Amino acid sequence: MSTSEKTSVVSGFYKLPIEKRREFVAKFADLNEDDMKSFSSPLDLTTADRMIENVLGTFEVPLGLAVNFLINNKEYIIPMATEESSVVAAASNAAKIARVKGGFSTTCSEPLMIGQLQLLHIKDVATAAQKIIHHKKQLLTLANAQDKILVDFGGGAKDIEVRILDSPLGHMIITHLIVDVRDAMGANAVNTMCEALAPILEEITGGKVRLKILSNLADKRLVKATATFDKEKIGGDRVVDAFLESYVLAAIDPYRAATHNKGIMNGIDALIIATGNDFRAIEAGAHAYAARNGQYTSLTHYHKNKNGDLVGEIELPLAVGVVGGAANMHPKAKLCRKILGVKSAKELAEVVASLGLAQNFAALFALSTVGIQKGHMSLHAKNISVMAGAQGEEIEKLAGQLVHDGKVKLDYAKELLEKIRKKD
Ligand code: MEV
Repeated sequence: MSTSEKTSVVSGFYKLPIEKRREFVAKFADLNEDDMKSFSSPLDLTTADRMIENVLGTFEVPLGLAVNFLINNKEYIIPMATEESSVVAAASNAAKIARVKGGFSTTCSEPLMIGQLQLLHIKDVATAAQKIIHHKKQLLTLANAQDKILVDFGGGAKDIEVRILDSPLGHMIITHLIVDVRDAMGANAVNTMCEALAPILEEITGGKVRLKILSNLADKRLVKATATFDKEKIGGDRVVDAFLESYVLAAIDPYRAATHNKGIMNGIDALIIATGNDFRAIEAGAHAYAARNGQYTSLTHYHKNKNGDLVGEIELPLAVGVVGGAANMHPKAKLCRKILGVKSAKELAEVVASLGLAQNFAALFALSTVGIQKGHMSLHAKNISVMAGAQGEEIEKLAGQLVHDGKVKLDYAKELLEKIRKKD
């Protein structure tokens, strides 16, 4: 498909049979036969056995596709691995609304990760801290000697920062090694560099290095995404106002912010998992960032613009990679990256942030209008219908009736199925 005719908008995608959905993806992302086979093949056991210890098998979750995404004027279809119903549909719907006003726009900082070295047992911390700064060049050179390839690609250790912290064990110096990790998540590169610096830091300061490890609060690797949601598309001024009223609670109350951010992570984690990235690292970074000012708060912000449209923004740290780790070992992660068409970790992070914003908009939109259960119910009703014994076309018919009657319950579904069968 040429770039000009490529669109991520597909109406009724959810109604298509799986084969037809795959055909659409194949065309959009130029997939070959091997890619297509990969959709149906589980992770092979030899690969799984190389990835973790004591392997028994593999564990599958559904892989869905969010459509309609326009990000920085490029069309994206987004693979999402999740067990939660409604998430994929909600993201697609939000993206459809966002594209009316041009879709998502993003900005991204350089891929800078932080490694920490904890220095203890130092008598004069101020002098020791100065000595570390004085040896910055030497420390950076040593760090960069650990990863020549990263340096060749334009990355590597770029800076040293020193913090003095008070603790129940006395003062300690925390040295931050700032590393540009380019297209990797960066944990391996940073941890290796930190370990290499430990002896020399001890030598310079006379102290003892205890921890030497990456920080998941990657607040130098930030991504921002914004989108404008047309007020007419979401029900006018009243809905915009209701939306903002719902949003404000997440801004002021950690109890709500936790749920609000969980909804954001519904989207983010699904893509992080699909691309073989470390979702715990992303979660840790996101929540720590949400609490950076001392109170846990929303990762998104919303306001009304002068036209009365709703403007949403998300900012969070996103330590994602397109090289190294599971991203390179897992065939489906490779396939998902191909479907996404991302060329760099930066581009992947920009899609992830946009998806997080879309997911959050969709949740707040539902919560401010019809409530969240309506969306959940249609899929739930289908499951109940299957459990009640419905087959083929009966499933849609029965599920529709259950939702219509507001009684998505197994005993009612069985009763109704009998009636439907008698009638037909
Ligand atoms: C459910 O997985 C996520 C929501 O609770 C998010 C939210 O409340 O904003 C719907």
